[in-house]
Amino acid sequence: MQNIKTRKITEDVTLITTLDKSTKKFEEIWEISSGINYNAYLVKDKNSYMLIDSTKNKFSEEFIETIRNIVKDNELKYIAVLHTEPDHSGTIRKLKEKFPKSKIISTRTASSFLKSMFSIETEVVKDGEEIKIDEKEVKVIELPWIHWPDTMMLFLKDERILFSSDAFGAFGARELVFDDEVKFEEYLKDVKSYFASVVSKYRQMILKDLEKINQLLDNVSVVAPAHGLVLKSRIKEIIRNYESWSKLESKKKITILYGSMYGITEEFVSEIKRYLEEKVNEVKVCNVAREELGSILSEVMDSYGIIIISPTYEGNLFPPMSYVLDLLSIKKLGNGKIVCAVATKLWGGVAPKQIQEKLSECGFSLLDKVYEFSNYPTKENLNLFLETVKKLVDIGK
Ligand SMILES: Cc1cc2nc3c(=O)[nH]c(=O)nc-3n(C[C@H](O)[C@H](O)[C@H](O)COP(=O)(O)O)c2cc1C
Ligand SMILES: [Fe+2]
Ligand SMILES: [Fe+2]
Repeated sequence: MQNIKTRKITEDVTLITTLDKSTKKFEEIWEISSGINYNAYLVKDKNSYMLIDSTKNKFSEEFIETIRNIVKDNELKYIAVLHTEPDHSGTIRKLKEKFPKSKIISTRTASSFLKSMFSIETEVVKDGEEIKIDEKEVKVIELPWIHWPDTMMLFLKDERILFSSDAFGAFGARELVFDDEVKFEEYLKDVKSYFASVVSKYRQMILKDLEKINQLLDNVSVVAPAHGLVLKSRIKEIIRNYESWSKLESKKKITILYGSMYGITEEFVSEIKRYLEEKVNEVKVCNVAREELGSILSEVMDSYGIIIISPTYEGNLFPPMSYVLDLLSIKKLGNGKIVCAVATKLWGGVAPKQIQEKLSECGFSLLDKVYEFSNYPTKENLNLFLETVKKLVDIGK
């Protein structure tokens, strides 16, 4: 019993969280140096229980043993699958074998996914439907596209808990449970990075979903997400941030994305940074080969201006920069944002053309052109590029 912890969040609701410190990359893409929690919740009623979500397959045995220590075989009436991504549904088949009398409930879309993923049948529940455990009522709120199309939330009426699936979660494996047990500003960075990496793609749908959640909000006293901390005191703040991030609202902030193999391009970056620091409220500098991708995307998300400075590698754009631009394109995080760009080179290649194409795929607007400078960029190169950077600064005024 190393990875799973249980803690009551109310008299009848227990958090069963898996602390995954061994996964280095979430979805094999997003570096998570501090790990991640997979949160499941067990709701106790008079004679029965409802389990909400589970965990990744590799933690199945420990998870099932934890449940069996609390729940007798025929007491588990429902297993709710809020969405079918395997970080929460990975143990479903084994759970069903151990608790054959339990009913698996999910949305229609999730039901078809579970059938094709695990060959299991589920009971379909619909938006607005109320499910009785014994006496406690749980309301279904379908909110498709909180990154998967099959998502629902559940609202436990008596205790006013909203089980929010992947929405409002965060990266980081924590033993702490509630939002008032941590330094909130620090925690918000993990929430933002998680949003940028996992949730941001379907922003328009999130905005619609938030309207639905806002209608409920006065009745909600706890938000219980599938990752990260249980929210009690900062619910409205997190929701406000979700709204702002979904709209890609930007601050007076410029983010420089750069790569550098031997430090040549990095010297040029330092000059640009020095120039900007006197003129812009906030300047962030991200080395695309070193920083966590989630944090790079989250810096881009609330910047109005982006500066891309990248070396040429084997005739092409430096691959880590290319990858970051591909991710920004998948998430369409460039919409409404303005870019200045430079490729450094020694003998030539197609990096400027590749930057230009990728920028337009991301939805960025390019100022002037993608400059191409031979290393080390000269004073003239710097002044030329600063003319374009100045235009970017003026736009932000
Ligand atoms: C492994 C490697 C491959 C490179 N490939 C190219 C290339 O195909 N075309 C080119 O013009 N420059 C190429 N360069 C030169 C760099 O793009 C150029 O020197 C740049 O200014 C390096 O900056 P950095 O030290 O910040 O990475 C290459 C450099 C390295 C180290
Ligand atoms: Fe998910
Ligand atoms: Fe998840």
